[in-house]
Amino acid sequence: MHTILKVSNLSKTYASGFEALKSVHLDIRRGEIFALLGANGAGKTTLISIVCGIVKASAGSVLVDGHDIARDYRAARSLIGLVPQELTTDAFESVWATVSFSRGLFGKPANPAHIEKVLQDLSLWDKRNNKIMTLSGGMKRRVLIAKALAHEPQILFLDEPTAGVDVELRRDMWQLVRELRASGVTVILTTHYIDEAEEMADRIGVMRKGELILVKDKAELMHELGTKQLWLQLQQPLRQLPAELAGYALELSSDGSELTYTYDAQDARVSIVDVLKHLGDAGIRFKDLRTTQSSLEDIFVNLVREQA
Ligand SMILES: Nc1ncnc2c1ncn2[C@@H]1O[C@H](COP(=O)(O)OP(=O)(O)OP(=O)(O)O)[C@@H](O)[C@H]1O
Ligand SMILES: [Mg+2]
Repeated sequence: MHTILKVSNLSKTYASGFEALKSVHLDIRRGEIFALLGANGAGKTTLISIVCGIVKASAGSVLVDGHDIARDYRAARSLIGLVPQELTTDAFESVWATVSFSRGLFGKPANPAHIEKVLQDLSLWDKRNNKIMTLSGGMKRRVLIAKALAHEPQILFLDEPTAGVDVELRRDMWQLVRELRASGVTVILTTHYIDEAEEMADRIGVMRKGELILVKDKAELMHELGTKQLWLQLQQPLRQLPAELAGYALELSSDGSELTYTYDAQDARVSIVDVLKHLGDAGIRFKDLRTTQSSLEDIFVNLVREQA
């Protein structure tokens, strides 16, 4: 495993005295999609801003492919593309000029073929001569992504890339991120849409009040912390659960017509076959059943609640 970004002991106290980051450690692997989750104010943008050289750390270090962002800023920064959370674009420039100019900022020689590819990939080619102020909000966001990709970065930061975009653009964005990864780009994104992290990420990091409280493979996280539910629709409503079933985490709906059993899918002692048999023995018959697995959203909400 190759570490492309190494964040060590990173802290930030703003001039106001507010501690926005508290000794954060994070290693990002080359070629992964990493989703950073956390409530408003958790410190996600602060972390990204330090890595991108916009905010100065109070303590700690950041290495981008071995380059220290403090001592070797230009080399480190040229490996990074940033799509900021706040939309900022030069309203009077054309799409083409803005995106080409961005490449120049990093001292890279002009490469019209690359700029064309980026604009094509983002469905902005037809708009290349438009002034940015004539574009819709979603297109402006694509321009920001094009700008971030103009200098062929190895790491792309997307700070809430899909806030306020429509469903179609969201899908496009996901597709684009997957293509970027396939081309070897490492992607770090923040999002408040947990289904987005569930859909996209290889690994998930959760921030809370300036601390990185968890970093895990998504699959592992969902496997370990996920619970399952068995839902049963009963033939006859029950007034209450029979006493012999008290040992099971069964919940009866208020009208008595549905039963829900929540269980840990990882626990070998739990068998839904046993539960169904016990229900049958107790004379409970059902018309329909289904099982569901908790989503990353459920896991996330529980995590943040537990640590509160
Ligand atoms: N320039 C600043 N001066 C003082 N405090 C700041 C400054 N910038 C951010 N903060 C504070 O630091 C904390 C972390 O902010 P940050 O923008 O990193 O959060 P975030 O996780 O990106 O939140 P969101 O999900 O809302 O984008 C917040 O409490 C914020 O008010
Ligand atoms: Mg933010």
